[in-house]
Amino acid sequence: MLIKKPDDIKSSEITDKTVYLNRRLFMHGAALLGTTVATGLVYRKLNPAPVEKAKGEKLATVRQPTSESAAQSGFTVNEKLTPIEDITNYNNFYEFSTDKHSVASASRGFVTRPWTVSVGGLVNKPTTFDLEELLRFPQEDRVYRLRCVEGWSMVIPWVGFPLSKLLDRVEPNSQAKYVAFQTLYDPKRMPNQATGVLDWPYVEGLRLDEAMHPLAILATGLYGETLPPPDGAPVRLVVPWKYGFKSIKSIVKIALVAEEPPTTWNIQAPNEYGFYSNVNPNVPHPRWSQAQEHRIGEFSSRNTLLFNGYAEQVASFYTGMDLRKYF
Ligand code: MTE
Repeated sequence: MLIKKPDDIKSSEITDKTVYLNRRLFMHGAALLGTTVATGLVYRKLNPAPVEKAKGEKLATVRQPTSESAAQSGFTVNEKLTPIEDITNYNNFYEFSTDKHSVASASRGFVTRPWTVSVGGLVNKPTTFDLEELLRFPQEDRVYRLRCVEGWSMVIPWVGFPLSKLLDRVEPNSQAKYVAFQTLYDPKRMPNQATGVLDWPYVEGLRLDEAMHPLAILATGLYGETLPPPDGAPVRLVVPWKYGFKSIKSIVKIALVAEEPPTTWNIQAPNEYGFYSNVNPNVPHPRWSQAQEHRIGEFSSRNTLLFNGYAEQVASFYTGMDLRKYF
């Protein structure tokens, strides 16, 4: 990235998982009483509003991945959740600002309705999905690590659904080998697109087998609520075993293609950011080591894990590949 490693992140209050889960149970219980106004008041008293959070729209269906199989599949990690205040106030979203601390204010009021995502290319059934249709896919909870290439990481409770479910709907044909993604291009709504800081629109890509892996999701929310603008509202990709920049935000277009598609950071600095961008502590970035990371909200650093800790699930994709060459 253009911006250097963060040394200045203050650890704020930790919302641990039990508090978060209790909060949810409380919400469910209170909703049963049918007194939404009273609930809102009590809820706000118990949980003061974060600096910047979602509009409070609850997502329809939420499943909690507490089972052993969820842990085995990588759908949930038993690590302290990063507080929502940090997740929504420390962001890389260059369409709004290159200053991580300014994305929240610069994206406040970002209009995400109406919103459509067109899915086409080498498919039998090209389809344009309205956001409401995307929200009708069964939404699941996924607690993933997110490791930024700059050396910081978070643990984020996403809400979303497997990308494979969307791709299945459009039926990729036999020529389709890669999936290309594109962010909205609208400098009126994304003011920093008026600058030349990146080649707009932001684009990303995955190999088709990677895209079909159940860990790769389209996120529509976090902490049980709709996705806040700084985190890529209304729908973004999350690929937890790759550096954060692969997780493209505010997607409007997905295309199945035959060749490896161009990707924004690779266009920007091909010697620094490869197509694969798998988290790998053994392959340093040309300007810094990737061996360790700073978990936001924690004091000391920790060792970065191969494939960000998802090796059991995804390492077989890369068997026989030289990961220094395909970085
Ligand atoms: N998507 C778009 N469209 N624009 C961006 O600038 N930044 C990427 C990725 N997706 C980015 C993007 C980078 S570098 C990271 S680390 C993650 O989003 C950060 O996601 P977060 O702000 O939700 O933590």
